Amino acid sequence: MLEDWRRRPHVQAGFGSEEPPDWREELTINEDWHDPVVAEIDGRPVGYIEIIDPAREETHYWGDVEDNLRALDIFVADEADLGKGYGGEMMRLALARCFASPNVKAVILDPLTDNKGAIRFYERLGFAHEGVQVFEGNECAVMRLTRETWAERSA
Ligand SMILES: CC(C)(COP(=O)(O)OP(=O)(O)OC[C@H]1O[C@@H](n2cnc3c(N)ncnc32)[C@H](O)[C@@H]1OP(=O)(O)O)[C@@H](O)C(=O)NCCC(=O)NCCS
Repeated sequence: MLEDWRRRPHVQAGFGSEEPPDWREELTINEDWHDPVVAEIDGRPVGYIEIIDPAREETHYWGDVEDNLRALDIFVADEADLGKGYGGEMMRLALARCFASPNVKAVILDPLTDNKGAIRFYERLGFAHEGVQVFEGNECAVMRLTRETWAERSA
């Protein structure tokens, strides 16, 4: 299912030239720096979020990054399901899951700079811009939601 979802054009567009993972390997990683989650509505799978600890994740995709962060990737599987609020609800649940660990001080993201829809979506959730960084040849907007901002906004 994830193999199919991740190759759909609207999903691949959100990841630029980043190749989809080998899902058999990805989903059998049994480490505490990796938390893959499928979102369901009434038992129907609708999207995917991967939560990682970017300082400890094995490929060091995020490079030299502080401890006590989480980083997320998200996509909604069906193009027909975009814009219905599912992504927002998935993010609210995922952020609560991240900040449930008391040592986590912020969540970071790296949307492509030209993924304006996703950037607006993250801004509305309270993420702030931290600058532009190139990851694996893709120009990304680095964004961060601190625990303080998350707590204020979810109070
Ligand atoms: C980004 C994403 C997860 C948002 O989920 P969603 O369920 O569409 O979002 P919601 O319905 O909760 O919120 C709608 C907002 O999402 C944003 N959005 C981003 N891409 C969108 C799209 N293709 N269609 C509709 N809304 C989109 C917009 O800001 C939109 O707000 P608007 O109506 O004011 O334009 C989803 O669009 C997606 O999976 N995109 C493809 C993969 C991707 O780009 N992932 C992010 C990688 S950093």
